[in-house]
Amino acid sequence: MLERNPVIFIILAFVVIMIGTTVTMIAPFKWINSAGDRIAEVKPYTPLQQEGRDIYMREGCNNCHTQTVRTLTADVERYGNGGGYSRSGEFVYDRPHLWGSRRTGPDLARIGLKYPDPKGAWHRKHLENPRSVVPASNMPSYAFLNEPLDTTYSERKMKLLKFPYTQADLDDLKGKSEMDAIIAYMRKLGTDLSVKKAEAAMQPPADQKNPFSDLKNVKAEALSIFAQNCASCHGDKRQGGLGPALKGSSKSDAALFAIISTGVEANGMPGFSGSLDQQKIWKLVTLIKLGKQDD
Ligand code: HEC
Ligand code: HEC
Repeated sequence: MLERNPVIFIILAFVVIMIGTTVTMIAPFKWINSAGDRIAEVKPYTPLQQEGRDIYMREGCNNCHTQTVRTLTADVERYGNGGGYSRSGEFVYDRPHLWGSRRTGPDLARIGLKYPDPKGAWHRKHLENPRSVVPASNMPSYAFLNEPLDTTYSERKMKLLKFPYTQADLDDLKGKSEMDAIIAYMRKLGTDLSVKKAEAAMQPPADQKNPFSDLKNVKAEALSIFAQNCASCHGDKRQGGLGPALKGSSKSDAALFAIISTGVEANGMPGFSGSLDQQKIWKLVTLIKLGKQDD
C-alpha cells in the first residue's frame, strides 16, 4: 500500500538508510579511538621518517606490502617479529594509513624490529638490489633512490600534520638521500612498542646445556630455519655477507645462544627470541658449531 505513495516511500526509505548509516558509520566513533586504545609509546614521525613515508607512497610500496598484522596466529608468527598483532593505537599518526590489501611481499608493520641495525645496512643492500640478499625476490630494485632528498616542503608538512619537530631534526635532513629517508621510515615501523624488549629477556637457564649434540639428527631442520631467518645476512651457505661466516665457532654454545636470542642490535644482528623458540635456537647453535665442512 505504502509503495503506491512515492513521496512517503522515499521518506521512509531514506529514514531506514540513515538509521543503518548511523549505526555502522557514525556511532562507532563513540567507542573507537578512545583513551583506552591509545598507546603512550607510539611517537609521531620525525621529518626524515615522514619524508621516507611520502617516498614509500610515491613509489607505491603499499601496492605490494601491507602494514597491519592480523590477530591470526599465523600472521603474528610470521610478521609480528615479537611485537604481536597490530592495534588501533599504533596508527594515530598515519595520515593516510597504509594498511594495504595485497601481500605480494611480506607485511611491514614490524619491519623495524626485524632489522634493527642503526645503519640500515640490510635495507640499503636489499633496496638497491633485492636479489643480492633474497635470491628469489621479485621486488623491483630501488637503487635510483640514491639521489638527494627534496626538503622544500619538509617543515610545512610537519606543521600541517601538527607533529613536533626541532631545528636539529630539520638540520638532520641536510645531505640526506631519498634512500636514507625511506630506510629511516623502515627502521621506525613497529619499534615504538615495548613488547619485544620484555621477550628479549629470554635467556637459557645458566645450567642448561645444548640438548642437540649430534648434528645429523637436527641438520635438515636447522638448515631450513637458517635459510628462512639467517641466510639473507650470513649467506645461503653460511659463507658470510652482511654478517660474519658461520661455519664453526670458537664461542661456547651458551654464548652463541645468547647472541642469536638477544642479538647485537647496535651492529646489525637482530635478536630472535621473539620469533624462534629455544629448541630452534639450540638447533642453530649445533649447526654453527659443528657444521664446518658441510654446506
Ligand atoms: C612488486 C611488488 C613489490 C614492490 C612494489 C615492493 N616490494 Fe618490497 N618486497 C616484495 C617481495 C616479494 C618481498 C619478499 C622478498 C624479499 O625480501 O625481497 C619484499 C620484501 C621487502 C622487505 C623485506 C621484508 C622482510 O620481512 O624481510 C622490505 C623491507 C621491503 N620489501 C620494502 C619495500 C619498499 C620500501 C618498497 C618501495 C620502495 C617495496 N618494498 C616495494 C615485493 C615488492
Ligand atoms: C639483518 C642481518 C642479520 C640476520 C638476519 C642475522 N644476522 Fe647474525 N649477525 C649479523 C651481523 C651484522 C653480525 C655481526 C655482529 C657484531 O659484529 O657484533 C652477526 C653476528 C652473528 C653471530 C656472532 C658471530 C661471531 O662469531 O661473533 C652469530 C652466532 C649469528 N650472527 C647468528 C645468526 C643466526 C643463527 C641468525 C638467524 C637466526 C642470524 N644471525 C641472522 C647480521 C644478521
